Amino acid sequence: MPTKPYGLNELREMFLKFFETKGHLRLPSFSLIPQNDASLLLINSGMAPMKPFFTGEQEPPRHRVTTCQKCIRTGDIENIGHTARHGTYFEMLGNFSFGDYFKTEAIHWAWEFLTSPEWVGLDPNRLYPSVFAGNETTPADDEAFRIWNEEIGIPADHIFKFGKEDNFWEHGSGPCGPCSEIYYDRGEQWGCGKPGCTVGCDCDRYIEVWNVVFSQFDNDGENHYTELKQKNIDTGMGLERLACVCQDVASLFDVDTVMNITNKVSEITHAHYGETAAKDVSLRVITDHIRSATFMICDGVLPSNEGRGYVLRRLLRRAARHGKLLGVNDPFLYEVCDTVIHENEGHYPELRERQDYITKVIRTEEENFARTIDGG
Ligand code: SER
Repeated sequence: MPTKPYGLNELREMFLKFFETKGHLRLPSFSLIPQNDASLLLINSGMAPMKPFFTGEQEPPRHRVTTCQKCIRTGDIENIGHTARHGTYFEMLGNFSFGDYFKTEAIHWAWEFLTSPEWVGLDPNRLYPSVFAGNETTPADDEAFRIWNEEIGIPADHIFKFGKEDNFWEHGSGPCGPCSEIYYDRGEQWGCGKPGCTVGCDCDRYIEVWNVVFSQFDNDGENHYTELKQKNIDTGMGLERLACVCQDVASLFDVDTVMNITNKVSEITHAHYGETAAKDVSLRVITDHIRSATFMICDGVLPSNEGRGYVLRRLLRRAARHGKLLGVNDPFLYEVCDTVIHENEGHYPELRERQDYITKVIRTEEENFARTIDGG
């Protein structure tokens, strides 16, 4: 075991507490529905709801903020269930500086949180940072390299330099910049065994846990970059990935709170992990999609044929179809949603408050879908 097998709920609290000790204001997660941002259907990162604080258009409640943000990314939907790392729903831990601290503090604090025995206590020898290698328009990030190397003491051959694809963060329009990622070596047993397997390999050995973005440019959406008035920090650490590393489990679906949802699906479908590869995929798809759907409905999305509503409909229907593959023809997702609420209500009390409503929306959609199929 690489560290104490902290539970997902415990890790979330540790992160937020750590950054409170560094003068950050803890804010609750923003809604999954973007406000005043037509460039996004759903919130997909911790920074997305705070773009105006990065650009300086709006004064933040404090210049140092920490959040655990509900996120949805559906770009990889076809991969869900087949890999250890992909899910449509995930929580992103973040510490943000709006024109306050910059690279030095962000790197030191990331390192302290991950390696200090008082906090997560990961083995420092298994951690590998990466920095931006530079390209025609933006120089290499020598400063981040120097901080990792000279101030933190990471040997130069443990610091990787990657190009724009890996080490420059942007998502559509808005604040963006070069970044420094932190990878954790989970050990040979998780690797592909190929000779060139190292940081950056696609297999499950070196897993990226943290992305520290030095957010200093604004992209107008057409790849024209201007310097922002202020230099900012935007960090993102996938809570499920961190839990996966700490609990030393195979995939994000094996993390404690997520596995409890799968167990509920197993109870209903009588399909269990490890029986067949196809059943594993179905169990994971259902687990992932019901998590997304529960949180989306709680935040006010309703199934429909366009926009966010269509994303929700697609997730519920995919989950129902995988239920059928496991032999369940009656509505059942609305029952699984109870476990999603149970596992998450400590941090998201609104789930329990809106439980009846969420359950009803899911059940109605399942019934309508069953009728459509029967009719067809
Ligand atoms: N915006 C960056 C990401 O999503 C860091 O928060 O990875």
